[in-house]
Amino acid sequence: MKKVYIETLGCQMNKSDAERMLGMLECLNYTETQNPKEADLLIINTCSIRKLSEDKAYSAIGVWGKWKKNRPDLKIAFCGCVAQQVQKDLFKRAPYVDLVLGTQRLYELPELIKRIEAGERVVSCDETPCEERTEIKRVKSVNAWIPIMEGCNNFCTYCIVPYTRGRERSRTPEAIIEEAKKALKEGFKEITLLGQNVDSYKSNDKDGNNVNLAELLRRLNSLEGKFRIRFVTSYPTDITEELIDTVIKLDKVCEYFHIPMQSGDSDVLKKMNRRYDKETYGKICKNIRSKIPDVTITSDFIAGFPGETEEQFEHTLEAMTEFELDYSNTAAYSPREKTVAAKWVDKYISEDIKTERLARLNKHNQVCCLNSNKKFIGSTLEVLVERFDEKDGKKIISGRSRNNKMVHAEYEKDITGEFINIKITEAHTWHLLGEVV
Ligand code: SAH
Ligand code: SF4
Ligand code: F3S
Repeated sequence: MKKVYIETLGCQMNKSDAERMLGMLECLNYTETQNPKEADLLIINTCSIRKLSEDKAYSAIGVWGKWKKNRPDLKIAFCGCVAQQVQKDLFKRAPYVDLVLGTQRLYELPELIKRIEAGERVVSCDETPCEERTEIKRVKSVNAWIPIMEGCNNFCTYCIVPYTRGRERSRTPEAIIEEAKKALKEGFKEITLLGQNVDSYKSNDKDGNNVNLAELLRRLNSLEGKFRIRFVTSYPTDITEELIDTVIKLDKVCEYFHIPMQSGDSDVLKKMNRRYDKETYGKICKNIRSKIPDVTITSDFIAGFPGETEEQFEHTLEAMTEFELDYSNTAAYSPREKTVAAKWVDKYISEDIKTERLARLNKHNQVCCLNSNKKFIGSTLEVLVERFDEKDGKKIISGRSRNNKMVHAEYEKDITGEFINIKITEAHTWHLLGEVV
């Protein structure tokens, strides 16, 4: 048995790719190790969403390259979104790398590993997706991530993803349902459907029927057993009335939407090439909230987009409050090569101002989160238990409610994977505390 160490940076799509890589590698007699120093094969799944994540990827392989001097048989694979961008140019910078694997050639891994084991150096970064394989070694947890679509056609002016993940493509409903059934059989209690724009999922089943996200949810909901279904990430204007109604109707689909807004200012949104303005985004949130009372709506925001004025930035803070966003991911704008906004150098916001705006954004996010959490004091939430810890002599279970709130409660035994009702007694910024009822 050989040993493989996989380091995964970036989003859930990369984490899901890592589970697929491990599945394929097990068939080649590799076992996973958590210790990179004892591995025969080192893999890094890279992310290029911001410069910082790209830098992390290069510094990791720099360290591995040094190990290789004493261990010439060690193999190094550079995969994911940075790989898709640099392709063969990586060898100029890191000649010790054996394999550069692009995002759309994931399932070619077994053949490529055999080639590097035979001493070849290989680059595979074509934009023609290869046929899927079904081997997956999922991370032990209660939640199984299932990609349903990949890629993006939106070309927001700040974003590298359309260049690293290619154009939108949806998997067939049959492949997704097969994977869901398998995960449920293995004991997973929650299925999270994954896509860069999950709500633009569009496929045909084998009988030629059109299947959109709402229809896919209906088919998954009809699978047997008690489990939950979630989906991320939604593009605001692709959320249809049919989708909202489906979430209301289906018992397994959770009351949770992740709908990145990016900026609370309509002019900035236009420059970002987002297909909505502040009012439209607000209407979408209001509509969802009026139909689904306890729904959680989370978002992403960028601080310091080129040309963003102080006033425009304040519109973002106002939007977070006005639309009662329950939680937001935040980031300072990072110029990415190839993207349109990166060329607006004369409009760049200084690092100092970006840092200052990001700090204010984060502070405001904390206020919004706490306010959101306070709404649940006194109510009883159904929690899917994810973990059990013993801290300071106390035994604590932790898990998420249907609307994605992290809840902790004292409980005498480990019931990971079970559903339990918890009455909320305290609200904190990032979690709720309660008592099992
Ligand atoms: N498809 C999703 C977002 C995927 S990228 C959507 O359309 O909303 C994840 C998040 O990274 C984005 O929502 C955005 O907030 C952030 N992001 C993307 N490019 C960025 C950049 N150049 N600088 C800072 N943050 C960025
Ligand atoms: Fe990036 Fe925009 Fe596509 Fe989201 S929709 S992945 S932010 S280009
Ligand atoms: Fe990063 Fe690629 Fe995901 S750029 S955020 S790993 S799609």
